[in-house]
Amino acid sequence: MFKIGNVNIDGKVVLAPMAGVTSLAYRNYMKPFGVALTVTEMVSDCGLIYDNQRTKDYIVTSDIERPVAIQLFGGNADQIVEAIRIVEKENPNFDIIDINLGCPVNKVVNSRAGSYLLKNPQELESFMKKVVSATTKPVTAKIRLGYSEDSINFKENIKALENAGVAAIGIHARTRDQMYAGKARYDLLKDLGDEMKVPLIVSGDIFTLDDAINALNITKADAVMVARGGVGNPWLIKQIDTFYKTGERLNDISLEENIRNLLDFTKMLIEEKGERRAMMILRGIAPKFFNNYPGTKKLKNTLCQNLFSYDSLIRILNEFGYAIEQ
Ligand SMILES: Cc1cc2nc3c(=O)[nH]c(=O)nc-3n(C[C@H](O)[C@H](O)[C@H](O)COP(=O)(O)O)c2cc1C
Repeated sequence: MFKIGNVNIDGKVVLAPMAGVTSLAYRNYMKPFGVALTVTEMVSDCGLIYDNQRTKDYIVTSDIERPVAIQLFGGNADQIVEAIRIVEKENPNFDIIDINLGCPVNKVVNSRAGSYLLKNPQELESFMKKVVSATTKPVTAKIRLGYSEDSINFKENIKALENAGVAAIGIHARTRDQMYAGKARYDLLKDLGDEMKVPLIVSGDIFTLDDAINALNITKADAVMVARGGVGNPWLIKQIDTFYKTGERLNDISLEENIRNLLDFTKMLIEEKGERRAMMILRGIAPKFFNNYPGTKKLKNTLCQNLFSYDSLIRILNEFGYAIEQ
């Protein structure tokens, strides 16, 4: 248990924000496996200011998932302040504001948002001071090691963020230029948690229980973020959470059990998005439920291409010999 501001975080697993993945249904579905804190996908400050309905859908949260952080991105502190006001009016039932300081995509960086803001720690400090003073809720930040290989400045940025009054810091152990490729570099974060004034949450390449143990041991962080490793493998969260609460190492689950997980998640996604949109999203996610099970390549390809409805999912599973009741 640790605290982010006044918010109790009861565990070591934070569900990492992932645009296009961590919908409300995804967060609600993953929560009972042992998620201590959920984070929405990144939400555009401008989208909120321009009253864009799609953007407003992203700030919908539930009581099931709490505590929940709403993640905002933007390149202008005054606009983020304005966006926070809108969030607090539209949906006061959230716990933390998280600011995205790590997004590497050109469109975001070119608008001076995301990892662009890592370039200058001094400017970051005044930017984040404005944001922190805009709300009574704790404000957290998610950063990267630095912008590029020759500007690895996370220590300076962490100091700047602490001075600005953030209540916790998440760090993705890659640079902006690495995007999502190459190994996460936990060696650079050795003992970082011990040096910090606020809780540290680490992110990058958490695919197994041992990855999580390793990352926490090296960095002395308070929690890990489960991102790509949890997509199609919700049991990973149960394994990490159980290990840190009881010391027990749970075995992996069978393919049949994971297919049950896929179906449960599918139903929740359809409820949130409607069947058509849910299926488009699921084409990218459903195959991942088979990643840890050999001999499923053809099935995965079929799921990528031929998912149109819940019934088509059941039909495909049956075709491949998995007798599933609907
Ligand atoms: C598809 C995708 C979308 C992501 N979207 C966000 C986002 O909206 N906000 C954010 O802070 N990080 C985002 N990330 C970064 C993840 O939260 C995480 O830090 C990163 O994937 C490293 O963890 P991993 O190597 O375990 O996947 C995204 C990552 C992926 C793969």
